[in-house]
Amino acid sequence: MSRSQWSEVDSYFAKTLVGSDPALEAALAANAAAGLPSIDVSPAQGKMLTLLARMARARKALEIGTLGGYSTICIARALPRDGRLLTIEAVAKHADVARANIARAGLGDRVEVRAGAALDILPKIEAEGLGPFDFVFIDADKTNNANYLTWALRLSRLRTVIIVDNVVRDGRIVDASSRDPDVTGTRRMFEMMAREPRLQATAIQTVGDKGWDGFVLAIVK
Ligand code: SAH
Ligand code: DHB
Ligand code: MG
Repeated sequence: MSRSQWSEVDSYFAKTLVGSDPALEAALAANAAAGLPSIDVSPAQGKMLTLLARMARARKALEIGTLGGYSTICIARALPRDGRLLTIEAVAKHADVARANIARAGLGDRVEVRAGAALDILPKIEAEGLGPFDFVFIDADKTNNANYLTWALRLSRLRTVIIVDNVVRDGRIVDASSRDPDVTGTRRMFEMMAREPRLQATAIQTVGDKGWDGFVLAIVK
């Protein structure tokens, strides 16, 4: 089994079930033109975010880690017209590219991109009373995954859906002696989830365009 086969299968899913998507394709082109790294969710994963947010009947969503807004667009599409998605991005250039991509996708009315470090912005979101959110996607610096989970819980209600991206990283997650802050941060997030009585959670490994990775899916109970 090879990585090129994983990619072929991803392309097959994208072709059969996702289909051509001018807004998302334009976003990827704009990201590339601006020199952003291509670390967005894949088309199939993006569609999964749309479906999960729809299944959750989300009206208010929170995203940590916008990049160029690919996943943002996927989540925002699941919201009703009067829904709100707040997405946080540390790098001003990423936030600018994302705002343009989101506007081009016709979702500017539903989405607010806040530029800044998430741990600075999240207390403000709480102070402004913008929560609780129905759906939270955590996809920023993996070092802070446990801190982001703490904030996701603070800003949640019963049945809020929480997703954490990139929790496998080519299997590095099981290296208990790793000093890689991405690994230790994500392992702290898993330990917190295991201890947290308010959460019902699972994790799923994925292969595809982005190699071997995976995500956590949790619900507040
Ligand atoms: N969710 C995007 C991909 C996000 S990549 C998608 O799938 O389309 C991770 C992003 O998190 C990067 O743009 C990075 O700049 C941002 N980031 C890193 N550290 C951050 C922090 N402390 N606060 C907010 N954003 C951060
Ligand atoms: C990478 C991938 C991601 O989905 C992400 O959010 C951050 C980094 C990566 O492949 O490096
Ligand atoms: Mg990611």
